[in-house]
This record gives sequence, structure tokens and C-alpha cells, in this order.
Amino acid sequence: MAIIYEEVSRTFSEFLLLPNLTTKDCSPANVDLSVPLVKFSKGQEPSMKLNIPIVSAIMQSVSNDTLAIALAKCGGLSFIYGSQPIESQAEMVRKVKKHKSGFVVSDSNVSIHHTLKDVLEIKEKTGHSTIAVTEDGTATGKLLGIVTGRDYRLTRDPLDKKVADFMTPLKDLIVGKLGITLSEANDIIWEYKLNCLPIVDSDGNLQYLVFRKDYDDHKQNPEQLQDAKKRLMVGAGINTRDYKERVPALLDAEVDVLCVDSSDGYTEYQRETIQYIKSNFPDVKVGGGNVVDREAFLYLAESGADFIKVGIGGGSICITREQKGIGRGQASAVIEVSKARDEYYEKTGVYIPICSDGGIVHDYHIVLALAMGADFVMMGRYFARFDESPNKKVKRGNSYVKEYWGEGSNRARNWQRYDLGESTNLKFEEGVDSYVPYAGKLKDNLDVTLSKIRSTMSSCGSRTVKQLQQTARIVIVSSTSIIEGGAHDVILKESEY
Ligand code: IMP
Repeated sequence: MAIIYEEVSRTFSEFLLLPNLTTKDCSPANVDLSVPLVKFSKGQEPSMKLNIPIVSAIMQSVSNDTLAIALAKCGGLSFIYGSQPIESQAEMVRKVKKHKSGFVVSDSNVSIHHTLKDVLEIKEKTGHSTIAVTEDGTATGKLLGIVTGRDYRLTRDPLDKKVADFMTPLKDLIVGKLGITLSEANDIIWEYKLNCLPIVDSDGNLQYLVFRKDYDDHKQNPEQLQDAKKRLMVGAGINTRDYKERVPALLDAEVDVLCVDSSDGYTEYQRETIQYIKSNFPDVKVGGGNVVDREAFLYLAESGADFIKVGIGGGSICITREQKGIGRGQASAVIEVSKARDEYYEKTGVYIPICSDGGIVHDYHIVLALAMGADFVMMGRYFARFDESPNKKVKRGNSYVKEYWGEGSNRARNWQRYDLGESTNLKFEEGVDSYVPYAGKLKDNLDVTLSKIRSTMSSCGSRTVKQLQQTARIVIVSSTSIIEGGAHDVILKESEY
């Protein structure tokens, strides 16, 4: 007979934290949010850590290079989506690894043969008013000049005027040589009263632009997640089919960490993928998942996974539970897998970090997930709302929204049909195509979320995530007490702002 579990499958909204004694040294500012990213042995330090316990989902509508740069600057990590051709995924990884704070790879470029109309179109599309003029019109071509708003007058210049006739030519520009530091670049910017300093290599090819406004970039981001060479860190999702080609290409692009991306990780395919990586690239770190119970955790732990992702069916765009009837409430899944992880640690002396993936709706859910034993959380919907995610921003009614679609939707799966000539071969979808409210810049929103996490941890008397995991007190709430938790029995004023 099938095994029937007595225990109800529960989600985060069914729990609350009880405050513990807050000692004076446990202020929100003193809370340390760093957590291990990959497994480590007792008494040793993990070889990779996160500075905040947050990573972004392996999804087309969430994690590209732009989002990865913004999140790593705040101390978290993105896993660039694998549902794209190998080369384009590797290129996104490369862009993150090449990113240097304050040194921007120009994405608004023209050649001298372009026209004022082209310049205006690029400006409209990218929002950038500084446009580099290179011999071949690319970001790394030979620098010939720069166009800014001061080089043309719309009331006077015809739209077909050639860039060559109104750009500020190279002979009138101050340029920096590749290799100079940000502070040297800024000295030049201040000395010559520039807004932008192009950086060229020894052959005169454009490499970067340094803008005056980026001066404080490194000071604003003390938590940046960096590798040993002080480059931003980035992860990448892989699948269990083309890993023998994809993994070497991602490693060539210098990816920091991999994660096998699957809605159900309790499979022999996943074991084979992890073991292939471990035997061919023993130093490479790879996470596995997703799982929702002890058995599946142990299977991936013994397969060699460096961290394990937990969650089936809890994602905001996910319809796996409706379509296939598999999954588990996210809180129950995290609690059981964390217990299995702790037992595994007791037995083997190896600590495997757990990532709670999907279903985070409120910021306090992050703290609950951590208190229940997760080391970090993965979020999709949360990040899809920001400027830096790769999805389109559109106006609906009076407000802006961004598109957000699941990796199991036909929209996401279509890349295989177009790029690999493969049939997706699935007759039903596991994800929906949707909108989420547009919320502005990643950093502005994440700062608020992090301050709430610190404040909750301070109320729980925990200065570290480890301490929270060991000492948090969690209660189940009744459905009526959930009503009590919101504003109730008052007449709310209309917003006056
Ligand atoms: P969210 O943060 O609640 O939006 O959940 C994001 C997570 O949902 C991802 O990290 C994936 O684990 C999962 N996910 C992404 N796309 C799909 C899908 O199409 N079906 C089911 N789950 C998905």
C-alpha cells in the first residue's frame, strides 16, 4: 500500500516567529547576514559564501547579466538562466565577470555613417545620452568620437545628418588607457571637468566608459559579492541533457558556481549530471534540486551536490501541483529537508547548505525560511519586478507592470524549438505567463527587504543566520489569527499620497 503521511503540508503564511530576548548588542545594524553557499566539513570555512541569504531564480524573465550585476553588488547571487543557447548564456556570464565597478561596457554605439535619427532611436531605446562612435559601430571597435546631447540641436539639425558631421571627434576627447584604476579615472574626470571618460586599449579600441555619476559606486556597495580576483560572482543554471557541452562553455566564461535546474531533482539524470561534473571538474561547485523530502535530499547529497534546492510547486507562476499533483507546502518541505541535512551533518561532518526556492510572498517569509533551516532563499517574482530584470515593462491601466513567465510555460520552452530544432515534446504546461507590478530599482527594494530581515532577526535575538536556525521559536497560526495580523476593525483612510 502507498505510504500516507499524517502530517499536513504547510506553507510559510501558516507560521509566525515568537520574539526572543533582544540583547543590546543584537541591533539590526549588528546582524550578520552572510551564509554558506556550498558544502564544507566540520571545523572548516565554506569555499564560497553569500553576503546576504538571497539568490535570484534560474529564469528567462529574471536572471540575465544586468540583474546578476545589480544583485552581486548588493551581496547576493544570480543564476543565469539555462533555457537559452549555450553561447548566449556563456556570454551573459562573461559580461558579469568582466564588469568592473564604475567601468561600463558601452551598449549605445554607432559608426560615423549612422545618422542623427539613429542616435535618437538608440537614446529612446536605452535611455543613454552618451553614445560612443566606433569604426564598426560596436562596443569594442576603434574609438572615433562621442555623441552627447550637446553635439546636436533638434530644432536646427536635419535627422539625416551624418554622425561624422556632428560628433565630438577623438582628437578633441580626453581618453584613459586600459589598466587605469577607477580612482585614476575619476581624477581625470575631475581635472578636465568631464562627464564621461572613454577607456581604450593600446590599439585605440574602446573598452569601457567611466561616468562621473558612478564615482561612489564601490562606496555604496560595501557588501559586494566578489571572487578572489575582486570580480563580481555569478552562477548559472544547467540541464541534464546538454551538460557535456554547456558546462565547459560556462567554465570557459569563468562562471563561479553551477546549479542543475529541474522541478524534480530526485532522478538518475540529476545524479549522472552532478557526477559528470565532479569527475571531470573536481573543483567546480554544483547545486542540485529540487527536492521536498529526506530521501531525495540524501540521494542528491550522496550524488555530490554542493548545495540542495528545496521546493516543488510553490512558485508564484507554478501550476505543477494542479497539473501533475506533485509537490509539498514550502514550509513543510524546508523543515523536513533541513532536519535531514542536520542529521547528515551529525553523521558525516559535512554541512550541505539548503536553498528554499519559490513561494516567498512577504519579506518575513525569508526569515521564516531561514529559521526553519534554509541557508538562503531563491526568488523569481520578487526580482522580476525590477528595472534590471530582462523582461518587458508595459503599461496596464494607470500603472506599470513587468512580464513574468514560468520556465515550464510554452513561452519559456520555445527556445528549444527555435534554437535546437527540438520539439518540446510536452503536451501540457507547468507554468503560466503573467504580469507583476513594476517596482523600480533592485537596490532600493532590496535595501528595504534587508532592513526588515535584520529587524526581525534582532527581535528574535539572533545576530547570525546560524543563531536564528538554532534558537528561533516558531508557532502555527490559526486562520482567524491571520485576520488579526492585518489591519482590522478600523475604517482605513484612502491613501492621501
Ligand atoms: P517565485 O519566487 O514564487 O516566483 O518562484 C520562483 C521559482 O518557481 C523558481 O526558482 C523555480 O523553482 C520555480 N519555477 C519557475 N518556473 C516554473 C514553472 O514554469 N513551473 C513551476 N515552477 C517554476
